[in-house]
Amino acid sequence: MGYELKRLRPTTPAFDRLKDESRLEGYWMLVRLADGWSSGRNKFLKRGEALYGAWHGRDLAGVCGLNIDPYVEGRSHGRVRHLFVGAPHRRAGLGRMLVETVIDRARRYFTVLNTRAPREAFIFYERLGFERVEGEEFVTHRMVFGKGN
Ligand SMILES: CC(C)(COP(=O)(O)OP(=O)(O)OC[C@H]1O[C@@H](n2cnc3c(N)ncnc32)[C@H](O)[C@@H]1OP(=O)(O)O)[C@@H](O)C(=O)NCCC(=O)NCCS
Repeated sequence: MGYELKRLRPTTPAFDRLKDESRLEGYWMLVRLADGWSSGRNKFLKRGEALYGAWHGRDLAGVCGLNIDPYVEGRSHGRVRHLFVGAPHRRAGLGRMLVETVIDRARRYFTVLNTRAPREAFIFYERLGFERVEGEEFVTHRMVFGKGN
């Protein structure tokens, strides 16, 4: 069975299952995503923003969001947020599929795409063409558009 990418509303039992899985692994990105959504703080509705889910049949296998970077003034920087692929689905190209979808959208709206990755995801972002950023509190990796990307 393949994976199908769709825009996601994080209000379904399938999302709750993946969120519980992520929390048990010690990751909080889906908990923060659910909190932002239910409080109305972040519903991915501003210009350029989107939230994607990758489905494997009826299971939600992965999530990735694109926001205007809230750590940067203005609206020209995008930010990859809340990326999570369920453990049974890793190393099958799903993270790449999610983030490449975000990159394709981001290049239409933003000049750069930032992220702050945990150390274990550094190689993943570098494989996708992000550059390592040193010395910035909120950014570990960045893709600058219009440089052959
Ligand atoms: C990081 C994460 C999103 C990667 O997702 P994934 O679906 O396993 O990644 P993919 O299979 O698409 O891998 C894409 C590329 O990165 C490489 N890669 C992925 N995980 C890697 C790892 N842990 N170590 C080394 N390389 C890795 C793959 O080899 C692949 O390279 P290639 O396409 O050039 O052959 C996933 O492991 C995850 O959700 N981890 C837990 C949460 C997390 O760290 N999220 C990131 C928050 S910013």
